[in-house]
Amino acid sequence: MALVVICGQPCSGKSKAAISLSEALNNTESKPTVRIINETSFHLNRNQTYAEMTSEKNLRGVLRSEVDRSLSKDNIIIVDSLNSIKGYRYELWCLARAAGIRHCVLFCDVEESQCRNWNQERRENNEPSYDDHIFLDLVRRFERPDRKNRWDSPLFELHPFKNEINKTSPAILDLVDYITKKVDSKTKDVKILQPTIATQSARFSEANSLYEMDKATQEVIGAIVAAQSLAMGAPVVGLAVSPDLPTVNLSRSVGLPELRRLRKTFIKLTGQSSLSGPPPPSDADSAKRMFIDYLNREFGSG
Ligand SMILES: *[C@@H]1O[C@H](CO)[C@@H](O)[C@H](O)[C@H]1NC(C)=O
Ligand SMILES: *[C@@H]1O[C@H](CO)[C@@H](O)[C@H](O)[C@H]1NC(C)=O
Ligand SMILES: *[C@@H]1O[C@H](CO)[C@@H](O)[C@H](O)[C@H]1NC(C)=O
Ligand SMILES: *[C@@H]1O[C@H](CO)[C@@H](O)[C@H](O)[C@H]1NC(C)=O
Ligand SMILES: *[C@@H]1O[C@H](CO)[C@@H](O)[C@H](O)[C@H]1NC(C)=O
Repeated sequence: MALVVICGQPCSGKSKAAISLSEALNNTESKPTVRIINETSFHLNRNQTYAEMTSEKNLRGVLRSEVDRSLSKDNIIIVDSLNSIKGYRYELWCLARAAGIRHCVLFCDVEESQCRNWNQERRENNEPSYDDHIFLDLVRRFERPDRKNRWDSPLFELHPFKNEINKTSPAILDLVDYITKKVDSKTKDVKILQPTIATQSARFSEANSLYEMDKATQEVIGAIVAAQSLAMGAPVVGLAVSPDLPTVNLSRSVGLPELRRLRKTFIKLTGQSSLSGPPPPSDADSAKRMFIDYLNREFGSG
């Protein structure tokens, strides 16, 4: 049904938020099956897991595969962990998208000083707490969610320091509403991650055009390298990669490493321009044409 990614600094009330949310969901008419995936379900010790990059990466891997295994159309998965890395939230979003279910982020927005106090309090009460060094390191590396990112949106915000968090907190109720509301199949909510035929084929053509781009530019480079080797170091002028394309005219001989670098830059440029400008070329010939134009501009003799 849905994936809820909880995110926040260490000791910012995430587990409380997770429990409140699952209670609020249980209060709805449909009483969906809710599963909280957290670090303690894997018997992981906070100090050990976050002490070094490898174990932290492992932890993220373990949580991610558990999420992947658990997502379904019939349940709601709540991931209760720091989820502080932007790229990691992106990966979770991709899982939801692949499963065709709703997704949202619940952010516990608390000042660092307050989190630090709560960590201290836990230590005094003999509850699981973080070592000070690890705490600071985690705080420093935290990447705030930003609703402008597709994978951080919709974003629901809690302020556990300012308001007590429970199953009636406004952000929790809004979130419940978002993930449980019925969808009219005619006016499909755009926020729902349905892997419809349209998005699947868009994804396909995206991948396809990248593949085409890769192949086409390789071919152009191959032709240039071969022509240069034939010309024994003289600049290549009037090279026809194929009859319908503009010829390659270079003012000097260009080594393979430089060609490869230009190819990378070109692919990056076309990838970026596709966000705003025209879509990237989707057929091999126009990809080649664009790349040849680009090379001629970079090294043009004319
Ligand atoms: C982790 O989730 C389990 C349920 O899956 C719950 O019993 C446990 O209390 C949670 N741990 C924390 C620290 O919230
Ligand atoms: C859901 O609420 C019912 C009461 O309405 C309660 O009996 C049940 O234990 C609750 N389930 C969970 C998982 O909290
Ligand atoms: C982590 O380390 C701190 C002190 O360095 C300790 O007080 C705390 O109990 C440890 N937490 C866990 C879960 O072992
Ligand atoms: C939830 O917290 C609010 C304050 O934020 C409080 O007024 C309300 O009584 C609490 N509700 C429950 C069920 O504890
Ligand atoms: C490349 O050079 C050839 C011959 O010198 C010329 O006919 C052709 O127009 C040039 N092409 C470009 C794209 O500059």
